[in-house]
Amino acid sequence: MEIITTVSRMKEYVRGAKGRGETICLVPTMGYLHEGHLDLMRMGRPLADRLVISIFVNPTQFGAGEDLDKYPRDLPRDTALAQSTGVECIFHPDALEMYPVGYQTYINVEEITDGLCGASRPGHFRGVTTVVAKLFNIVEPDVSVFGEKDYQQLAVIRKMVEDLNMAVQVLAHPTVREEGGLAMSSRNKYLSPEERESALVLNRSLKRAAGRVKGGERSAGVIRSEVVAAIEATPGCRIDYVEIVHPDTLKPLETIESKAVMALAVRVGKTRLIDNMTLGV
Ligand code: PAJ
Repeated sequence: MEIITTVSRMKEYVRGAKGRGETICLVPTMGYLHEGHLDLMRMGRPLADRLVISIFVNPTQFGAGEDLDKYPRDLPRDTALAQSTGVECIFHPDALEMYPVGYQTYINVEEITDGLCGASRPGHFRGVTTVVAKLFNIVEPDVSVFGEKDYQQLAVIRKMVEDLNMAVQVLAHPTVREEGGLAMSSRNKYLSPEERESALVLNRSLKRAAGRVKGGERSAGVIRSEVVAAIEATPGCRIDYVEIVHPDTLKPLETIESKAVMALAVRVGKTRLIDNMTLGV
């Protein structure tokens, strides 16, 4: 296991691997690894000769007043966990290595970043696509794995790869949940026991929405109102958004005719949590 902190050493590692004809899988993360991250790594392990992950708390995707400074970090623990899944290399640069003084190039995917998290976190996806494009240029992966937990992020990265003709295959891993249904997230660490209990309403109401669609309800408005009511009735929860959108365009739907995705963001206490579920017809 090698921990690499500079772009130049990372590029040298990649040159070595490519020179031997090896393929590379990259799993980008911000660290403080949980089972969701580890499952992405387990999925990536057999897909290429080299499994590389990145651990980088990317400042450009955090807005003013967000949790950049207090975002949890634990490199020794992350290293041991990553190693247990067969990761051979961790790319762990610091902020100045990725964004040297004078840095001024950003990638902006347009329409599909307008709604959902894009609306409530201006500039967030610009930071995500910029850092992921940089990681792809540095690590040159053949394949890269992302989680469906961050549904809009996955769609935005797929759009960037398609639009910019990037030579990387993007694969999705389903959302990994705790017992009880709460989607795993590094930010769950911020939750008090009471908030953790309240947070269960996210998955519970998504499951109920999926059940309503299976049962024949086709009005996105009706289902949305039910979910909003359930969340508003839960102590400590404040809705950021609850939307039913087209799975590819992420545009809001009025009627659920074929597949749709219900996506939501809720503040539980001070912690902002997101979750989503496919509503199939
Ligand atoms: P981070 O939140 O650390 O997540 C890293 C990867 O793990 C993402 O692809 C995310 O979707 C996935 N993931 C997180 N929780 C998951 C869960 N419960 N089930 C399945 N997958 C899960 O997302 C980021 O970091 C950053 O935005 C990044 C892409 C690294 C760019 O900075």
